[in-house]
Amino acid sequence: MPRDYFKFELPARVFGLLFEVIALWKEAIFRGGIMKRVAIVYVSLHGQTEKIARHIKTRLESLGIDAYLMNAEDSRNETFKSETDAVILGGPFYMQRLPSSLSEWIPRHQKFLRSRPLAVFTVGLNVLSKKPEDRKKDEILLHKWLVKTGLHPDYTASFAGSLDYTEYNWALRHVMKWISQRAGLQTNTHQDYEFTDWKMVEQFANSIANDEVQSQFSTRQRPVSQDSLRPHSQPLPT
Ligand SMILES: Cc1cc2nc3c(=O)[nH]c(=O)nc-3n(C[C@H](O)[C@H](O)[C@H](O)COP(=O)(O)O)c2cc1C
Repeated sequence: MPRDYFKFELPARVFGLLFEVIALWKEAIFRGGIMKRVAIVYVSLHGQTEKIARHIKTRLESLGIDAYLMNAEDSRNETFKSETDAVILGGPFYMQRLPSSLSEWIPRHQKFLRSRPLAVFTVGLNVLSKKPEDRKKDEILLHKWLVKTGLHPDYTASFAGSLDYTEYNWALRHVMKWISQRAGLQTNTHQDYEFTDWKMVEQFANSIANDEVQSQFSTRQRPVSQDSLRPHSQPLPT
């Protein structure tokens, strides 16, 4: 055998083999459910969506998934961490709309979002309404937003948010009091009210974690019992 073989070719082959083994091992760790990485991207004006995003993160971590937060309004958050397997997007409703900062963030990451399992959650007060048509309104608004942004999430959920009277300015406090009165919500403007069902938030995180571990995030067929927590499969009526 030529001397060059031992000097150059053999070490190169050994290094190549070693490199492949490390790559396969890394792949096995991430794909085998030992560790997964999920990005939770959110926008929050008064903090409740952020609180929910943090709760999802904590829950996912307790289930062995590496989760991290990205505030879409923070320009430093334009790059996903490597090995991000799935994305959760969350935003609050204001005047029947999701924040434009979230909508504007999406096109910059469209390719990435389309190539990963995706879940979307919204936060608002309409879900608390006793009228089914009001609750349906959120779903319809979300559906329209998804059509506009071109997203196809595997899961969607609508969580109840909060009334942050003490943070609103004088005019907004009175408007929100008037709206709350009509909706049968609390009207004492000297305190804030949180309506989020944390069990439902955890169930949302559980569904994602279960599908992640079983690599079935994208099946879009898992039944989820509560009506504001659902696999996103069916187009909604407009
Ligand atoms: C000015 C204003 C408008 C709102 N409009 C809606 C709405 O159209 N639909 C809804 O479900 N909730 C609405 N809400 C309730 C918010 O979505 C809720 O307070 C939520 O917790 C806010 O999330 P954030 O704290 O992450 O900003 C509105 C709240 C305010 C203050």
